[in-house]
Amino acid sequence: MDDLGATVWPPAPIRTDRLVLREPEARDRAAFIELLASPEVNAYLGGPRQREELERELPEVPEQWAGSFVVELDGEMIGQVLLRRATGHRRPAAAGKLDLGYLFLPQAWGCGYAAEACAAALDWLAGVLPGEPAVLTTQSANAASMRLAAKLGFTEVERFEAWDAEQWLGMRKAAALSG
Ligand SMILES: CC(C)(COP(=O)(O)OP(=O)(O)OC[C@H]1O[C@@H](n2cnc3c(N)ncnc32)[C@H](O)[C@@H]1OP(=O)(O)O)[C@@H](O)C(=O)NCCC(=O)NCCS
Repeated sequence: MDDLGATVWPPAPIRTDRLVLREPEARDRAAFIELLASPEVNAYLGGPRQREELERELPEVPEQWAGSFVVELDGEMIGQVLLRRATGHRRPAAAGKLDLGYLFLPQAWGCGYAAEACAAALDWLAGVLPGEPAVLTTQSANAASMRLAAKLGFTEVERFEAWDAEQWLGMRKAAALSG
């Protein structure tokens, strides 16, 4: 069973005021390499991957699975929003819940795109799996990510140590839907 159960995937592209959320396509491969090889993007995510290794190993269509959205601005990929079932989460409060993740290219930071895209993905989730809460794990030192989590309506469940850093686990109850 995939992460989103019986949810029909891929959905029709989701349009917001400025963005489109859609499933990954082959034309996104170069942007995925930028994202995964970027030291800034991966500063709180265990560090960047080697560009050469990514060129060699990334499939023709990267990250193609239910819950993986490419975020597009004016026809170009600027980031990825992920909704994954956290089956192996080390904190019992999060285990089995849908985990929100987000990565945007540095040139797209500071414009509200991440907030706009994540809110749209959460609204989509509320439509296909009503009542389903979402969790989010981020390093507490990741200030931009912490601000985004709060903006999206996630509240702290607990902090814990993992991967040599303090992690913040937040949860967003289904009732806290964005308008
Ligand atoms: C985490 C991350 C997605 C946040 O991106 P971001 O661009 O800072 O987030 P937002 O979309 O919320 O935009 C932030 C700023 O845009 C500004 N902004 C400009 N125009 C805006 C608009 N039209 N609407 C809303 N905000 C706007 C806001 O002032 C906001 O600043 P604030 O948060 O201080 O209020 C980004 O830093 C990133 O990709 N980091 C690397 C990956 C990562 O660490 N992910 C976390 C793993 S869980």
